[in-house]
Amino acid sequence: MRAPLPTPPVAVEAATTLRRGVPAVLVAFPGDPVRLGPGGGGDVPTGVTGKAGATTRHDGTWYVGAGDGAPGDWRTAGASLIRALHGDAEQGGPTSLDVRLPTDLDPAAVEAFALGAALGGYRYRITGTEAPKRVKSLRLVTAAAAAVDRAATLAAATTLARDLANTPSNVKDPAWLAAAAVRAARDVPGLDVRVRDERWLADRGFGGVLAVGGGSARPPRLVELTWSGGGSGGGSGGPHLVLVGKGITFDTGGISIKPAQGMHLMRTDMSGGAAVIAALVGIARLRLPLRVTGLVPAAENHVSGSAYRPGDVIRHYGGTTTEVTNTDAEGRLVLADALAYAVRTLAPDHLVDVATLTGAMKVTLGVRTGGLFATDDDLAARLLGAGEAAGERWWRMPLLEDAAEDVRSDIADVRQCPPGPGGITAALFLREFTGEVPWAHLDIAGPARADKAYDEVVPGATGFAARTLIGLAESWVGADVAAGVGADGDTMG
Ligand code: BES
Ligand code: MN
Ligand code: ZN
Repeated sequence: MRAPLPTPPVAVEAATTLRRGVPAVLVAFPGDPVRLGPGGGGDVPTGVTGKAGATTRHDGTWYVGAGDGAPGDWRTAGASLIRALHGDAEQGGPTSLDVRLPTDLDPAAVEAFALGAALGGYRYRITGTEAPKRVKSLRLVTAAAAAVDRAATLAAATTLARDLANTPSNVKDPAWLAAAAVRAARDVPGLDVRVRDERWLADRGFGGVLAVGGGSARPPRLVELTWSGGGSGGGSGGPHLVLVGKGITFDTGGISIKPAQGMHLMRTDMSGGAAVIAALVGIARLRLPLRVTGLVPAAENHVSGSAYRPGDVIRHYGGTTTEVTNTDAEGRLVLADALAYAVRTLAPDHLVDVATLTGAMKVTLGVRTGGLFATDDDLAARLLGAGEAAGERWWRMPLLEDAAEDVRSDIADVRQCPPGPGGITAALFLREFTGEVPWAHLDIAGPARADKAYDEVVPGATGFAARTLIGLAESWVGADVAAGVGADGDTMG
């Protein structure tokens, strides 16, 4: 089946002047209307409160409130503005507008506003009817053009992750996901993608991926994306970051089948893999000078005569055996292979996996916060910092040592589903495959999906974690490099 096309995103660009005759948007702060920029002070109409995200229109001019001016407020402002403008465009309103931002606005605020505007109007719809008119272009009048460009790259990564995860599973199987990664990387210089098929996986003993994928008529894949640092020297000397994302293109639960209610949502069970693919694209687009590898073990967890069973013992890449007790705990089995493969063949300095892994984590932290587990405090701190800057919230969870002994099995090396707190025991199982490498595990079962709009998020797949992973990679890049100057003092091209 042909891939359905997602709704085209709005182009958010920087500009230096307002265009004559083009509808304008002004930004309002509570009680501080003079910060509107040159010629914009003075008469803010009544009813314009400045509350974050409050949008109003007076005489053809839009006003959007930026609240207290915290980055989160600016993200909210951009998102609610674009939603209001799309709604107006559907009623015949303008499809291109200029936004005058306060002239002294700091780049972080400009970036947050641009990000909100680029993501808040996201929509995924497969329809036979003609799409209604929507806003095509939003020009932000600001001197901080670099901040707008950066926001556009980050928004494009989130959008890619959302598109991949929203794609229905009659279209999206492991081969489709792998081909989508190839397509996404095609026009990104230096980003390499290799796709391994079921034969390759069998020859090398990826028993977890093969067991989980064995029940489906659509065979598993392993996607490997490589960014070697852009020839900046970071490739050889800098740290090697390996990202692993769960790529279950649909999760029926297998023989331990899920209840019908809510099962359709399991088309987004490859959201971790989507975040990894999107992060690699973003990292390569920003040409970050460090080596990053992305691994996405992709499989469909299905029910058939060839499906794996509860009670099976499987052998992972590298030889470790697992006693399977529940075929619905499939994510950790495919991740175990990929983590072991990373540790044994890629010499990572830092290892991070991201997965819609447990319903337990969704119950624990809700749907707006991801669970963060780490064997390394520095890596945890980098992830928390990157999440904060990206507008993605994480909460660090403990790898409880009293629960760790329950990972041992009587008949195999490890037990797939140890008793105890589900999100934590899943993390403890994964830890068995990480060797001595500093490792973090991100459980995004909650925030990978939204059922209502808030901030820059809209219902459906959220693209959660893609921006955090890009920010994590950036955290190893020196300030001189981030500013566009290479280690040898030359300006990078
Ligand atoms: N993909 C699910 C986890 C999930 C649940 C993600 C809800 C998003 C929303 C995962 O494969 C799963 O089924 N986990 C089981 C593990 C259990 C059998 C130990 C779960 O959480 O119930
Ligand atoms: Mn499952
Ligand atoms: Zn799953």
